[in-house]
Amino acid sequence: MQQALYHPERGYYSSGRCAIGRKGDYFTNVSVGPLFGQLLAAQFTDIWEQLARPDDFVIVEQGAHDGRFACDVLESLQKRGPEFFGALHYWIIEPFPLLRERQSQTLEPFRDKIEWRDSLQPFVGVHFCNELLDAMPVRLINNGTEKFVGVDGDKFVFVERPADENVKFNQSALEWIADTVANLQRGYIITVDYGRSGAEFHGNLQIRARHRGLDSPFEQIGYADITMGVDWSSIAHRAQSNGLRVAGFTDQHHFLTGIISESRDLMLESSAKIKRELQTLLHPEMLGRAFQVLALTKNVDPAAPKLAGFKFAGGPDAALALIDQSR
Ligand SMILES: C[S@@+](CC[C@H](N)C(=O)[O-])C[C@H]1O[C@@H](n2cnc3c(N)ncnc32)[C@H](O)[C@@H]1O
Repeated sequence: MQQALYHPERGYYSSGRCAIGRKGDYFTNVSVGPLFGQLLAAQFTDIWEQLARPDDFVIVEQGAHDGRFACDVLESLQKRGPEFFGALHYWIIEPFPLLRERQSQTLEPFRDKIEWRDSLQPFVGVHFCNELLDAMPVRLINNGTEKFVGVDGDKFVFVERPADENVKFNQSALEWIADTVANLQRGYIITVDYGRSGAEFHGNLQIRARHRGLDSPFEQIGYADITMGVDWSSIAHRAQSNGLRVAGFTDQHHFLTGIISESRDLMLESSAKIKRELQTLLHPEMLGRAFQVLALTKNVDPAAPKLAGFKFAGGPDAALALIDQSR
């Protein structure tokens, strides 16, 4: 998975072959239209207010693809929240030069706001990612056995071996959360992705190209996306053990509805396009239930009001099966 997606020349993402949207391989919240970024911009504004408007506030984005989300957020804030816009810095963590180049083209109007980083550094503010975790390499471990990739003639095949007990199937995502926690000085981590929590989690791979599911990760290597749904409980549990507080967990339908209901400045145009975007993002049969949102905080007063996105959400501990896991 690491090689298929991230080999420096041939990887699906690193080669720049990854195409998102109608003409690409799959849709994301960002490719639906600017509404997703506008709604998140409203949520980031609440966070800035909640942290008492720091002037070193950073929005960190990881997995920024072509920079569309950053552009949607910054355009929206420039129009609707000039004070916050003036104070904020936007960092993009992007290891691949080709993607950096695309991002810098999209973000040309905001050249002074954006800084690119190879890796995360200490910051105050919010770390945001949409569909980053599902694209992190996983190991296929089941009942003490791990599937490795071998070669049979001119074909790749799975080879089963005993698994290393010290390695988790989602080791990369767990290391990512530990690193993000270590660099967050004060603020939030907001992660949007598709996945399951508790016993509902299943570790199946999804392989997609041109909006079609493929049967095997050995098909169209470097031309197809390979993902696994996020095991939300293990991410939240690792975050808690590293000192974070879970500030909310809910599905995208509830999250975005909460933001819309609380937004004072969000003037959604009433056009057929916006209606379509809203439906796609919110409808439970479209992206509304398939995607979930996890918010984690560090050095934020636990008595601070809930973020608008979690206004309609139930308690996160039960939804994330955190109570069971800590036993
Ligand atoms: C499924 S795409 C999502 C793109 C975009 N966020 C969206 O929603 O349209 C996943 C992205 O995460 C990026 N990615 C994966 N691991 C990364 C890492 N460690 N640091 C930064 N980006 C990473 C990939 O290069 C790819 O651009």
